[in-house]
Amino acid sequence: MASSKSSDTVNEGASAGPTSRWDELREELCTHPDGGFNIGAACSDRHLAAGQGERIAVRCLGPRMQQRDISYAELADRSSRLAAVLIGLGLQPGDTVAVLLRRVPELFVSALGVLKAGGVYCPLFATFGPGPIRSRLGLAQAKVLIVADDLYARKVAASRAALPDLHHVLLVGEDGVRTVPPEDCLDFTTLVEAASPAAAIATRPTDPALLHFTSGTTGTPKGVVQSHRAMLAHLITGRELFGLEPDDIFWCTADPGWITNTAYGVIAPLACGATVLADEADINPRRWYGILADEKVTAWYTTPTAIRAMMRYGAALARSYRSNSLRVAASVGEPLNTEAVLWGQKALGVPFLDTWWQTEIGSVAIANCPSETQRPGSMGRVLPGIHAAVVKREGSHLEVIETPDIVGELAIRPGWPSMLSGYVGNGVLLGAGLHDGWYLTGDLVRRDADGYYWFVGRADDMIKCGGLQIGPFEVEGLLMNHPALAEVGVVGKPDLLLREVPVAFASLNPGFQAGDALRAEVLAFARQELGSAMAPRELHFIPELPKTIAGKIMRRVLKAKAVEEPEDIDPLPLSSPCAEV
Ligand code: PRX
Repeated sequence: MASSKSSDTVNEGASAGPTSRWDELREELCTHPDGGFNIGAACSDRHLAAGQGERIAVRCLGPRMQQRDISYAELADRSSRLAAVLIGLGLQPGDTVAVLLRRVPELFVSALGVLKAGGVYCPLFATFGPGPIRSRLGLAQAKVLIVADDLYARKVAASRAALPDLHHVLLVGEDGVRTVPPEDCLDFTTLVEAASPAAAIATRPTDPALLHFTSGTTGTPKGVVQSHRAMLAHLITGRELFGLEPDDIFWCTADPGWITNTAYGVIAPLACGATVLADEADINPRRWYGILADEKVTAWYTTPTAIRAMMRYGAALARSYRSNSLRVAASVGEPLNTEAVLWGQKALGVPFLDTWWQTEIGSVAIANCPSETQRPGSMGRVLPGIHAAVVKREGSHLEVIETPDIVGELAIRPGWPSMLSGYVGNGVLLGAGLHDGWYLTGDLVRRDADGYYWFVGRADDMIKCGGLQIGPFEVEGLLMNHPALAEVGVVGKPDLLLREVPVAFASLNPGFQAGDALRAEVLAFARQELGSAMAPRELHFIPELPKTIAGKIMRRVLKAKAVEEPEDIDPLPLSSPCAEV
């Protein structure tokens, strides 16, 4: 991938960040005497010089809770050996290496090793099928793939002929055993053990480092590229939002294919010298409460879906596992309703923060910071160094809305270190698509008089009902106050008279029976709480809301269901977890 042509400063662009602070951080993260700036080296080698080699860098919990620990010294050594392997295989600076692994130590070795070799780290979702994996490998023009042996056999092997750029495949036996690779693959562990460690390439801050595809289930996949300087934003948000220090045990529950894992499951905690915890299991309330307590997790980053799943199991279960170690918890990816914030704080006994960002922004940009007064239900305020605005598109021109509480699109000025360098197309960086010097997020928000941002919906999710614009999240947040509802998704359904009317899809908490009586009760509650103009006209009970892998409600799917299906979509009963304890 061709490198960005922008200057070498970490904070170039329109945003006025605290330059001297960035310069200090840049110096702290620099591992090369000649100014080379490499995420892989800064997250591992740098800590050895500070005498932290024996500290656990990563603890991975397997399906049966078996632990695989890797110290900073081991992480530095193995990632440098992998860098040597990749360079030996002909990897050139800027070439993409795709990684398709679960949460195992080799995932961390791979991320840092690829970056040390000057490559671009491109993680993929292991839960994707062969088609989406093939299309992403093709779009990225990946030269090397590091993949779990079983995933290769099931999801990649049949696509090799359609991937002419993919020169090498390195197979990982994820339970630590060596694999016997087929003829056209290599064994990761054998190669890494046989190699001598290579020094990290002295990349520049603006050299491409990370490539993530935003979810294809909500639109066409887009390859978003960040450069090595992104780690400045990861370090600063790790420290200031999560308070990360070397003594911390940080757990980010994001899937390895999501940028949330790269930023906060790998780079931020390792740049801060903390211990990363990674758990193989997906959302599993009992197991997760146990992990928070037994592993003495100090800071936890999760999603609204996870916290709502935990809510279904009741606060008493949470209290029975209450950990004295936890300091802070936070959520990202979807709107976090007020009820979930308050529940999380009470159940976990620590501040529970909403944070907002996007793949394109690369790190948290808006948050309810621990040092400020929180406004539950809001996304919080912009972090220092971020230049944000609420804007309205007026033809090809943008109008910045200064008046509080007016809904508009959230826009961000480039200049924040982790902002995208551009989208990838045919192996080269295309522009980041700015409008009047702003990056438009596609999110509709309002900012109150105190600077707190409130999420209203995606620009294309707004329900236009008569003269009224209805934000689905506002309706969902209020409906969630009804005790029967576990999760709610609201979408617009075409209407001859009003253009669109809101309709709701909901799953139920244990102990509630779907049926006409409950439907009538919830709709009456909605009319009472929201007023008849905003209240959903229909309510469908479904066992689970359709979600992307990242846990976002797939409104597109709900919209299709709203049009096609006049009655309930799936037969009940619910797939209910255990009852409230
Ligand atoms: O719509 C916003 C929603 O998720 C989108 C970003 O998705 P993605 O690029 O997959 O995220 C990567 C890392 C977070 C945003 O445009 N979103 C994210 N956080 C929040 C949110 N919506 C409401 N509240 C949030 N805190």
